[in-house]
Amino acid sequence: MQALVLVGGFGTRLRPLTYHVPKAMVPIANVPFIERFVDYLEANGINHIIFAMGYLPDPIANHLAKRNSKAKYEFVIEDQPLDTGGAIKNAESLLNERFFVFNGDILTTIPLSEILRIHEQKGALVTIALTPVDDPSRYGVVVTDEDGRVKAFVEKPPKETAPSNLINAGIYLYEREVLNYIPEGQPYSVERGLYPKLLEIGAPFYAVAFPNDYWLDIGKVEHYMQANFDILSGKAPLPIVGKEIQKGVWVGENVQIAPTAKIEPPVLLGDGCVIEDEAKVGPLAVLGKRVIVKENAFVHKAVLWDECVIGKGANVERCVLGFCCQVEDNASVEPDRAYGCGERITLVSV
Ligand code: GTP
Repeated sequence: MQALVLVGGFGTRLRPLTYHVPKAMVPIANVPFIERFVDYLEANGINHIIFAMGYLPDPIANHLAKRNSKAKYEFVIEDQPLDTGGAIKNAESLLNERFFVFNGDILTTIPLSEILRIHEQKGALVTIALTPVDDPSRYGVVVTDEDGRVKAFVEKPPKETAPSNLINAGIYLYEREVLNYIPEGQPYSVERGLYPKLLEIGAPFYAVAFPNDYWLDIGKVEHYMQANFDILSGKAPLPIVGKEIQKGVWVGENVQIAPTAKIEPPVLLGDGCVIEDEAKVGPLAVLGKRVIVKENAFVHKAVLWDECVIGKGANVERCVLGFCCQVEDNASVEPDRAYGCGERITLVSV
């Protein structure tokens, strides 16, 4: 089965991390997102993957080129951002009679076989996966009848007026015929354009809900952090790269932990990390490769990319630090935000 993965967006909500790193390459518990995503597709029987790319395509293509896989990969690069629908239309010459389409920023375990089963059973033109969320106001809410046929597609409704908490999970199964409804060579959104159009013409448009499977859109800083923590806590049943040296503490190669340092699980320390005396790391901390946490520093609910240096007595809580960030001695980060690669954090609280 064939899949088209949309990885061309700017990832503005993950800035400044995405100024230099495309959203598809951000590490999720120390594994690039796209690596986890392709693992998911291949485990679900996908053997031909087309990547629709736009913004910063090279790091994604280079990473995938190193992967040892039986699946066939193809890349389509847009000259201008075409939005979700335009990107699908742009890949038309490579697409089969039936194919899956994915937003390339979702971390999930939704089983594709079930979508295919419903799609065939209903004779659908498009079948869309749904997932429940607490606050549907930032998503496309989907209303169905008892047969699973889509009745309404409400993009980002106010929380109080949302007709359901089941949202578009960004996974679709299409019959090729649907491409006839997408205009060529121009930006076009499936959510705002194609799906309302299918409802208008009464096309067989079905949905299937997955209330019990893990699903998270990693496109926002808070959700990006959550995805990392869900893997550490086991809420997202996905592999952790590292050796579990005590319950909930995973470490890579050549990690040095000083005897008086405190590691509170769950914690993941990448290759070559150094945790100095009296430093405290965790609970909930993901450290990339060669991160140094100096004496008396504190790292909690944080995701630190490779080569970050946390100064003596510094405080790093509820944040993401891009590659090679430096937190000066005794400085504190601002919580609930991301720092771009190479930033120097000097703010010392009084
Ligand atoms: P924000 O800028 O933060 O909204 O992120 P985004 O545009 O990267 O992602 P959004 O959630 O709006 O889009 C959903 C998926 O479609 C993401 O995986 C994007 O990479 C992808 N996408 C969005 N626009 C384009 C586009 O113009 N071309 C391609 N190929 N993919 C796109």
